[in-house]
Amino acid sequence: MPVNIIAVIGAGTMGRGIAYVSALGGYDTILEDVRPEVLAEATAWIRGAFEEGVVRGKVSAADVQSALGRLRTAARVEEASDADLIIEAAPEDIELKIELFGMFDKFTRAETILATNTSSLSITEMAAITQRPELCVGMHFFNPVPKMKLLELVRGLETSDATLAACREVGVRMGKEVVTVRESPGFITSRVNALIGNEAFTMLEAGIASAEDIDKALKLGLNHPMGPFELVDLVGLDVRLSILEYLHRTLGEKYRPSPLLRQYVNAGRLGRKAGRGVYDYREPKPKS
Ligand SMILES: NC(=O)c1ccc[n+]([C@@H]2O[C@H](COP(=O)([O-])OP(=O)(O)OC[C@H]3O[C@@H](n4cnc5c(N)ncnc54)[C@H](O)[C@@H]3O)[C@@H](O)[C@H]2O)c1
Repeated sequence: MPVNIIAVIGAGTMGRGIAYVSALGGYDTILEDVRPEVLAEATAWIRGAFEEGVVRGKVSAADVQSALGRLRTAARVEEASDADLIIEAAPEDIELKIELFGMFDKFTRAETILATNTSSLSITEMAAITQRPELCVGMHFFNPVPKMKLLELVRGLETSDATLAACREVGVRMGKEVVTVRESPGFITSRVNALIGNEAFTMLEAGIASAEDIDKALKLGLNHPMGPFELVDLVGLDVRLSILEYLHRTLGEKYRPSPLLRQYVNAGRLGRKAGRGVYDYREPKPKS
């Protein structure tokens, strides 16, 4: 099943990045969102990312021109009817994703592959609404998509080998390193990362070391590019807590969220987006 046309559904943080690597990988790319202002923002973001790529010598101006020529936007999902592969990047809500998979199943050709960029939800549940569960798969990209090398391919209960092979090839053409994982809560990356981050909070709460020293130790001693607190401040403490709650519910006691993490979330210390998480990002108040 050759893939030539890719439709990306949802043009938020992830969708716009996926559309960027798709167009650059040589695919005719349709980027769809229900909000026209998001589409305009996403197009400007993609152009900006291409310009930055040229300045940094990552892509040539000629490649950018042809990639932009392969990219178009759409305001309704039905406009993606001629796609060979749909990559859904709408919000992390199982009801919404099941509804979208039901729609894709109706308006696309019977051989179109239906992929989701979910970071945690069940592909099998989305596939169950369709007449083609063997063509349903998870394609878990990482943020920011143009820079992050990994693509986790997630095999649902009925995903076929041919679907996985086709998506692996797409990932490689998008410049990614691909790993395959059987559907399971948190896949590989979110599961390991949640445990490291939770343990760091447990150590902080016990007064074993300061946040700065825990971050420094993991960066310099274990070669992590970011410390666990720097990372959770970027991801959002609320997002991390909801992942841990889900892993705790599905995988057991080992994933029980640290009380300190919960306390920070209750206090509104959600990370960089709130101005304060484990660290404080607010401007110091001018002295009067
Ligand atoms: N943000 C991350 O770091 C990250 C990383 C990996 C995976 N993910 C996953 O990617 C998906 C998208 O996350 P995001 O951070 O890009 O979210 P986002 O909120 O930035 O973007 C979602 C977009 O979907 C649009 N949308 C909502 N309903 C829609 C519909 N019915 N049809 C089409 N578009 C619709 C919204 O207008 C919005 O622009 C989620 O499943 C998330 O779990 C996110």
